[in-house]
Amino acid sequence: MKKADPIWARIREEAQEGIQNEPLLASFLNSTILSHKTLEDALSYHLSSKLESLTLPALGLRELIDEAFANEKGIGDAIRADLVAVHDRDPACRMFCQPLLYFKGFQALQAYRVAHYYWNRGRYHLALFLQSRISEVFGIDIHPAARIGKGILIDHGTGVVIGETAIVGNNVSMLHEVTLGGTGKERGDRHPKVADGVLIAAGAKILGNVKIGQGAKVAAGAVVLRDVPPHTTVAGVPAKPVGPTAEEVPALVMDQYFSDGEGL
Ligand SMILES: CC(C)(COP(=O)(O)OP(=O)(O)OC[C@H]1O[C@@H](n2cnc3c(N)ncnc32)[C@H](O)[C@@H]1OP(=O)(O)O)[C@@H](O)C(=O)NCCC(=O)NCCS
Repeated sequence: MKKADPIWARIREEAQEGIQNEPLLASFLNSTILSHKTLEDALSYHLSSKLESLTLPALGLRELIDEAFANEKGIGDAIRADLVAVHDRDPACRMFCQPLLYFKGFQALQAYRVAHYYWNRGRYHLALFLQSRISEVFGIDIHPAARIGKGILIDHGTGVVIGETAIVGNNVSMLHEVTLGGTGKERGDRHPKVADGVLIAAGAKILGNVKIGQGAKVAAGAVVLRDVPPHTTVAGVPAKPVGPTAEEVPALVMDQYFSDGEGL
């Protein structure tokens, strides 16, 4: 029996409503959503039309994306968890179809998941080609070897950079211009390890093989060079602890204000 997919059902309803309200976009909403049977089909169609190039036209790209979606265990769950993350945490997101159709943070993350699939199978040229196209099209540069969990919100996305040996846990939220990079002084395992539930605000640079503890919060513009304990807020350049986080899981609340309780 076919499994129910309430998120996909909702996206289809939103597309139907969109056609009623915006007839000029009927063809777009039909081709991107209503003509597909599953969320994976719709996403694969949309990503391939965004990322196509002379070197790898949409049809060939679509086959590659379909293969990754069909074979990578857990990728469907991750796609849905990311959709829910954006819908629940981004106040600007009113509809489930919004990240799928219009948010490049979500689109780049799903395309990274495809590149990661090929990287793990030793198809390095293909994975790096995809990384390069994702970066050109969306302005978000995620190395295909990086390991990223599910339930991830990359809000706005512009300028996000995630390095080769970075690890990002589940239910992490980050905003534009976040860097999970190296210091430039280390080789090998040189990138940050971000635990579950962390919120990384706009423009924060986390540099080196540092651990950002579960439920920590990194303030906008911070430059983090040392480990951050769990449930701790850090701010400044270089970043220093400014107190415990006000909430248990900052990434879910997306409160980017720093209350008195957090020491500011
Ligand atoms: C500047 C840099 C190379 C470190 O240089 P360094 O001379 O080896 O510095 P150290 O790590 O020994 O730190 C020296 C002091 O400078 C501070 N510091 C280091 N980098 C800093 C930065 N970017 N901003 C502010 N202070 C910084 C350190 O906290 C330390 O302060 P302290 O002595 O009070 O503890 C490195 O931190 C950096 O910023 N690299 C850039 C890497 C980058 O752009 N990565 C992105 C890859 S995508």
